[in-house]
Amino acid sequence: MAFYSEKVMDHFANPRNIGEIKDADGIGEVGNPVCGDMMTFYIKVKDDKIEDVKFKTFGCAAAIAVSSMVSEMALGKTLKQVIDLTNADVAKALDGLPSNKMHCSNLGADALHKAIENYKTKQGK
Ligand code: FES
Repeated sequence: MAFYSEKVMDHFANPRNIGEIKDADGIGEVGNPVCGDMMTFYIKVKDDKIEDVKFKTFGCAAAIAVSSMVSEMALGKTLKQVIDLTNADVAKALDGLPSNKMHCSNLGADALHKAIENYKTKQGK
């Protein structure tokens, strides 16, 4: 039996930045083919920085903790800094995930990157 770190439990029990931004500048959605879980990120961008970020996750405890952590890591950062953020960075920030839950961490940064791509497409960049 694998156990979650205290950070994972904290972000799962008290997720940060949960919700939806109605007038989002970019939206990114990813699904996990392994388990069918879904994650959607909404971003507001100002001066090339993430001014606001919210997420909705239909998934396991690890997926919710990953969403919460990645949203905290992205807030206030430049788009470039967020694009450079990897799924491994997020798992590390959570003090790791059990090996059978590592696939759950693959949703977080991917969904956020998609939201940035969506923003750039809308901007014609
Ligand atoms: Fe589906 Fe974790 S079991 S994302």
